[in-house]
Amino acid sequence: MKGLLRLRDLSTEKIQEIIDYAEKLKGGYKVSYPDKRFATLFFENSTRTHYSFMSALMNLGIQVLDCNVSASSVQKGETLYDTVRTFESIGVDGVIIRHSKDGYYKELEGIKIPIFNAGDGASDHPTQSLLDLMTIYEEYGRFEGLKCCIVGDISHSRVAHTNIEIMERLGMKVYISGPEEFNDNSALFIPFDEAIKTMDIIMLLRVQFERHQEKMEMSVSEYHEKYGLTLERMNQMKDNAIIMHPAPINRGVEIASECAEAEKSRIYKQMTNGVYVRMAIISMELEGKL
Ligand code: CP
Repeated sequence: MKGLLRLRDLSTEKIQEIIDYAEKLKGGYKVSYPDKRFATLFFENSTRTHYSFMSALMNLGIQVLDCNVSASSVQKGETLYDTVRTFESIGVDGVIIRHSKDGYYKELEGIKIPIFNAGDGASDHPTQSLLDLMTIYEEYGRFEGLKCCIVGDISHSRVAHTNIEIMERLGMKVYISGPEEFNDNSALFIPFDEAIKTMDIIMLLRVQFERHQEKMEMSVSEYHEKYGLTLERMNQMKDNAIIMHPAPINRGVEIASECAEAEKSRIYKQMTNGVYVRMAIISMELEGKL
């Protein structure tokens, strides 16, 4: 299948190439594909991924068909395969898809146009990881030896799962922290208050209530007290350490409002970089270089 479905399918050299190209685009390098047309299909809610993909497509001069899934024939029972096959048949050159089903793209064998995964279930979110990596690389100019702790709802997070695999492959030391009920042993566990003082990157996650089968054991105020990034905790971070979060953020739960806006926060830079990594992968795919 063409496009980008999982980051683990890309070599570390290719990932560095994507970041370097995204930086070039951020620096003003222009490339345009006015004869191309892409469709965005979001079967799950999204603000950042959906609209930064659209921004990326528009920046590349690509025409966008933004499929309103709730008003489409999906509601009449049309399958994912038949929906994508339809877009392919009407002349679309690529599709961006977010879906709640892990590995939804396995149903799309036979589709010839590129498919870009905008998040599947709790499995993968490749472009989120790319924008995270671009932001880290801008900060430190390297990956090797950096220490990152991902904190919070690890077990339901496609961001955590994608990031742990690629960060370890790039030579970073990755830890997880937060409530024991969300610990899926996908990386080495470290107590939050120890992580705060020793990490280069504290990456917070939203509690993903919509994916929970059972109610979380603690209240959100208890969560904030035990696992939230408060001003007091932020002040214990290393001088050059940074705060990241894929967002949406829940202010007052996993992060205090002041910390989201603090000098150490790279949360809004991550969003900006998302446009450029998405431009990079689409352009590279169209040039046969992905
Ligand atoms: N980070 C992220 O995937 O945000 P959205 O759900 O708003 O796209």
